[in-house]
Amino acid sequence: MLSQAKRSRISILVMGAGSNILAKDDCIDALVLRMRSGEFAKVKFGKERVYAGSAALLNRLARLSCAQGLGGLEFLAGIPGTLGGALVSNAGAWGRCIGDLVKDIRVMDSSGKIKTLTASDLKFGYRRSNLSKYIVLSATLKLSAADPKEIERNIAGYLKERCASQDLSPSAGCVFKNPAGRSAGALIDECGLKGKKSGGARISEKHANFIVNTGNASARDVINLMSKAFEAVKRKFRINLEPEIKIWQ
Ligand code: EPU
Repeated sequence: MLSQAKRSRISILVMGAGSNILAKDDCIDALVLRMRSGEFAKVKFGKERVYAGSAALLNRLARLSCAQGLGGLEFLAGIPGTLGGALVSNAGAWGRCIGDLVKDIRVMDSSGKIKTLTASDLKFGYRRSNLSKYIVLSATLKLSAADPKEIERNIAGYLKERCASQDLSPSAGCVFKNPAGRSAGALIDECGLKGKKSGGARISEKHANFIVNTGNASARDVINLMSKAFEAVKRKFRINLEPEIKIWQ
């Protein structure tokens, strides 16, 4: 598929669970790849290691690791994404990110060549990595032995905090990255934009960096609200917010 796409000059977009993507309303001029089959969702455990395919869901990974008495992934519980998507965007929460756990990552490059990237090949930053030019196939993460009951307690604690502070209605999670030392949600909140609507989209009353779909939101509705938030924060704080979600034009 990759070589066919390359020959025909069709660009390729890779989708994980789709939870951090805003796709434009009409058609997307690209080949969208989504790894979902058994092979891509495989999970295997070793000594203080988990090897998983890029389609493995983070919640499942955290729960399976817990059952093996392996901790380290608890902070990812509640993020509705796949391992592949999480690695490319270096997903994180509660001051931790998935990049810190990586031992190695198997990727395919645009010519179809498969290689294994190790620490010295990988660059992770806040919600970014140098993986977007590849298709992530699988990864090995470093975990540590722990009491499953303790891991379960930690997962429950993170989920409780998430429920208390974030909006669980349909959304793409935080739409903007946090600017250095600040919270994008708090900045948008201080601009008085909570509850602001555009069509079927609304800036969450609970957390202003979430834009929820009230049922029939279009991508245009979400982008309108993002532009309003961007302009308001720029005017009031002289800060240019950077989108966290991937917008497929
Ligand atoms: N706040 C407000 N008003 C709001 C939202 C937040 O005043 O509408 C305040 C909070 O009260 C708190 C501060 O802003 O004092 C920070 O808020 P919060 O603890 O909710 O964290 P955040 O910075 O908004 C980040 C990540 C989340 C991650 C949480 C928990 C980003 C953009 N967001 O949110 O990640 O789950 O910390 O660690 O980095 C995501 O990436 O999609 C995401 C949701």
